[in-house]
Amino acid sequence: MPFDFDTMLDRVGRDATAVDALGKLEGFAPDPPAAGVEPIPMWIADMNFPTAPSVIQAITERAQHPAFGYFRPKQAYYDAISWWWETRHGTPGIAKEHIGYHNGVLGGLASVLYAFTEPNERVLVHSPTYIGFTNTARLCKRTLESSPLVRDSAGVWRMDFDDMERRIVEHGIRVAIFCSPHNPCGRAWERGEIERAAELFAAHNVLVIADEIWADFALRDAPFIPYHTISEAARVGSITLSAPSKTFNLAGLQGSYSFTFEEQLRTRLAQQSVSSHYNDINVLSMHALLGAYTTEGAAWVDELQKVLVRNVDALCDFVDAADGLEAYRPEATYMVFIDCTQWCATQGVAIGDLEKRLWDAGVAIQDGRMFGGPCHLRANVALPYAKVQEAIERMERIFA
Ligand SMILES: Cc1ncc(COP(=O)(O)O)c(C=O)c1O
Repeated sequence: MPFDFDTMLDRVGRDATAVDALGKLEGFAPDPPAAGVEPIPMWIADMNFPTAPSVIQAITERAQHPAFGYFRPKQAYYDAISWWWETRHGTPGIAKEHIGYHNGVLGGLASVLYAFTEPNERVLVHSPTYIGFTNTARLCKRTLESSPLVRDSAGVWRMDFDDMERRIVEHGIRVAIFCSPHNPCGRAWERGEIERAAELFAAHNVLVIADEIWADFALRDAPFIPYHTISEAARVGSITLSAPSKTFNLAGLQGSYSFTFEEQLRTRLAQQSVSSHYNDINVLSMHALLGAYTTEGAAWVDELQKVLVRNVDALCDFVDAADGLEAYRPEATYMVFIDCTQWCATQGVAIGDLEKRLWDAGVAIQDGRMFGGPCHLRANVALPYAKVQEAIERMERIFA
C-alpha cells in the first residue's frame, strides 16, 4: 500500500508546537521567520507526516461509538505491545504483568526517579543529553551526573566506560538513564557496547532506566538491541520506557509504557505511578496503539524508515560538503546534530547569531546548546524530502 510521505501537512493552528510555538518558548523554540517567509519546522521531535492510516482507522472507528466512560485497557492492548516487540525487535515473552502505563516517557522517567532516588540524588546520564531528561530531573529535584560521550578516531560517538565507572563510584550512583538509540547523537548502540555498559551497571548495582522511545528508528542495517535482552542482570536490573508516540507521530495523544521484569522493582514503580491518579491511559490513545502495532502499521514504519534515510543522507551530504560544518551521520533517530564550531570561528559569528540567520530564513532548526553541544544545531529531518531540500537550499545561502 502506498503511503504519503510527500505532502507537507499544514499544521498551523492544528495543535502543533512545531509551528505554533515559534518565538513563544524562550530558550527552547526557534524564532519565527522574517515576514513573508514560510517556516520549515525542523526542531521539536515530532514528524511532519500524517500518522499511519491504520491508526486513523482505529481511532475513527472507536470515536464513532459515542460513549467514553471509564474503562480498563483490553488484553488486546497488552498483546499488541508484546507482538510489536517480538516481531520488530525479537523480544518474546513481554506479558501483561510486565507492562506499566505512563503519561509520556518523561512521565515514566519522573515516576522512576521519585520511586528509586532521593531528592538531590545524582543520576548518571550521557552527554550530549536530551533536554527532556535535563528538565525532568530538574523538576523532580534530582541532579544529572553527565558522562560525556566521546568521538572515536572514525568520528563515532562512544561511551567512556572508565569515566562512567569513576562517576558511579565517586558519587555512589544508584540509577542511570540509558538512551538507546541515542538522541541527539543518533547512535544505535552495538551489542558489545551495551554489554559493557550492562556489566558495569550490574557490577555497581545501578538500576538502569532504558529509554527506548527511538527503538523503531534504527536506520539502514543498524541494530537496535533492547537493553533488557543483553543479559539476565540487565533484564532484572532495568526498567524500559517506550511508546508508539515517536514512531507514529502520536505525542499529542500521550500513551507510553514500561517493561519491568523484576517483581519488586515493578511493584515499587507501580505504587509510584498509580498513586498519582493522573497516570491513566486515555481510550483514544489505547485505540491508536491498537491501530499502530499491526502489520499495516509495520509496513508504514518500513516505508517511513526509507524516507528518513534519504533525508538524513541529504542533510549529512550537505554538511559534509560545507566548510566548517561537521556531523556524525546518525544510524538511528531522525535528528542530525551539527557541529558548527569551525564555521563560527572562521566566520567570527556566534552560534546564537547563526541560529538567528537560519530562523529568519525559515529554517526552524533547534539550538544544540540545550543538549550540551556548545556550538551545535539539532536538525529534525522528518519532513517530506522536498522540504528537506528546500531547507538545504536556504542553508546553502547562509553557509556560503
Ligand atoms: C529520548 C527521548 N525520550 C523521551 C522523549 C519524550 O517522550 P514523551 O513525549 O513520551 O514524554 C523524547 C522526545 O523527543 C526523547 O527523544
